[in-house]
Amino acid sequence: MHLEVVGLSKSFPTRRGSVLALDVVNVLVAAGEFVCVVGASGSGKTTLLRLIAGLEQPSQGSISVDGEPVIGPGADRGVVFQSYTLYPWMTVAENVGFGLKLQGVKRQEREARVDYFLEIVGLERFAKALPRQLSGGMQQRVAIARALAAQPKILLMDEPFGALDVQTKEMMQEFLLDLWRRTRTSILMITHDVEEAVFLAQRIYVLTSRPGRVKGEIVVNFPSRRDYSLKRTSAFQEVKDKILALLREQHGLTYSPS
Ligand SMILES: Nc1ncnc2c1ncn2[C@@H]1O[C@H](COP(=O)(O)OP(=O)(O)OP(=O)(O)O)[C@@H](O)[C@H]1O
Ligand SMILES: [Mg+2]
Repeated sequence: MHLEVVGLSKSFPTRRGSVLALDVVNVLVAAGEFVCVVGASGSGKTTLLRLIAGLEQPSQGSISVDGEPVIGPGADRGVVFQSYTLYPWMTVAENVGFGLKLQGVKRQEREARVDYFLEIVGLERFAKALPRQLSGGMQQRVAIARALAAQPKILLMDEPFGALDVQTKEMMQEFLLDLWRRTRTSILMITHDVEEAVFLAQRIYVLTSRPGRVKGEIVVNFPSRRDYSLKRTSAFQEVKDKILALLREQHGLTYSPS
């Protein structure tokens, strides 16, 4: 197994006592697999991603990539967040190459990799542009190129298309699927959008809210080459309904009017 999250718990101290964000969560991602985690707001999705990224330390449990324990941020994990995190004063190419520069990758190799990954995300013509000259979707493609340029073992994404309008979001989903098919990078993507998860993932973990626990795991058996028409099929709707039922079930259990 490639990414292994075992018995992961995380609580945060607050003034009103500690908040349990994740409660004994187990998540696996095999090499080359595309896995999504869905859950309502507050189910600990971002917390899970930040722990895997090494930006936060677990209260209990362990995380490893190819058997190597995660103890902090590392080049083996590329991260893409919801809001645009590009450096506004750097060109697109400089943004993509920045991490490589920090890693001490030589200029020639760096330029070659930047060119390659800008082409992968279809933005080679914008190498010299500044982020603000790009649309939101294009900026997220730059963020993806930047994460991929460091050649991580796994790409971690937290609601990467959450800030985009519906049309751009749908285009980005098709783009991401195509990119995944071509690069076969392992992807762990977090989203609250059930339709997005079913369209993209090979496997989906459903999280409950407060505390975040794995409520179910759904295998999505559609072919890896998918296009938009899939969303209108009854098979697609069936998988979606199964997940929505899991999410609703726990709402019924935890709903307490006050
Ligand atoms: N640094 C922190 N300090 C205290 N509590 C925190 C901290 N980070 C997260 N929490 C709490 O942990 C829980 C899970 O938060 P998290 O942001 O991981 O949820 P989420 O599933 O990403 O939600 P959303 O869908 O709204 O992004 C929440 O109850 C939140 O208030
Ligand atoms: Mg979140």
